[in-house]
Amino acid sequence: EKGGFDHFMLKEIHEQPKAYRDTMLGRINEDGKGVHFTDLNLTKEQIKNIRNIQIVACGTAYHAGLVGRNIIESLAKIPVETDVASEYRYRSPIIAKDTLVIVVSQSGETADTLAALREAQANGAHVIAVTNVVGSSIARDANDVIATLAGPEIAVASTKAYTSQLIAFYLLGLYMAEIRETKTTEEIAHILAAMDSLPEQVEQVLTQAPIIKEYAEHIAQHKHLFFIGRGVDYAVVQEGSLKLKEISYIHSEAYAAGELKHGTLALIEEGIPVIALATQEDVLEKTLSNIKEVKARGAEVMVVSYEERREELMKSVDKVLSIPRTLPLLTPALSVVVLQLLAYYASLALEHDVDKPRNLAKSVTVE
Ligand code: F6R
Repeated sequence: EKGGFDHFMLKEIHEQPKAYRDTMLGRINEDGKGVHFTDLNLTKEQIKNIRNIQIVACGTAYHAGLVGRNIIESLAKIPVETDVASEYRYRSPIIAKDTLVIVVSQSGETADTLAALREAQANGAHVIAVTNVVGSSIARDANDVIATLAGPEIAVASTKAYTSQLIAFYLLGLYMAEIRETKTTEEIAHILAAMDSLPEQVEQVLTQAPIIKEYAEHIAQHKHLFFIGRGVDYAVVQEGSLKLKEISYIHSEAYAAGELKHGTLALIEEGIPVIALATQEDVLEKTLSNIKEVKARGAEVMVVSYEERREELMKSVDKVLSIPRTLPLLTPALSVVVLQLLAYYASLALEHDVDKPRNLAKSVTVE
């Protein structure tokens, strides 16, 4: 049942190219120049009128929602807030007539997310559920469902569900961009062409497993580490940090690279590993200066960036792992795979139960 893999998690990491293809399939126009969603109740008129979007979810799905915010804001130019579901309800969210709420849930059964959905609907919002289980409670109650077609996810640590959620956000962002005319047909076609290469590029990332494993065995000897990044990289490191904590039990914190100097730098000491995602070239210089801040205090830095940057980066860091070249907005779909493998191999090195980490359940039906 594990298809020749030692664990469900590793199998599911390897199923991501297929999950990307399946989630895109049937939603991209034949000419490759646009996106369509069959059965969406939300009309084009409503999409034109959306004033703001609230994305609500828990855990890994919340982290997908953080990337979703960047995606929708940059493609469709609609203001987006992303909230954890257990907080959303209790902060009396301001839901106006033209607020769209998107809940994200792999299982579709998470109690906090379901409660948030109901709160949003009670306030008159149209709710889209991005879910992997179309027969779930959340799918049933939502006004619209966008299915992620990742297939069943067994490992407690979510991998292919998260990346399929990213694909769903790219598609939705492009769909909205077309309707709201915030991107030209050429721009949309260009992004879709880059998305088409993602499954193959994930395969390329997977071939680096032996190098990632070696580095994972190294960090497994540490008790604490930091992840840093800017923009979508910051969203992705939050997921990487959760994944590592969840299955390896190594303590880590994910920081916006520019925020460290406002207090947390005090924790950087000799030898502490800092994992930096540096895929966003518009802020690369800034991220590099943050890397220098931690290097100066003795941190050992590993960077995830593009292969072409390796030589330059090796002047200021200890190790570089690379991802294939894609558009800046699409990098999360590749970079997170490095962090998933890192968490997997760290857990393996420490001989933990990878698929069933302590204290956790696959579906959280209590508030
Ligand atoms: C982490 C993980 C959890 C879930 C969270 C929400 O790997 O799996 O953080 O993402 O419990 O679950 P769903 O998406 O089913 O609502």
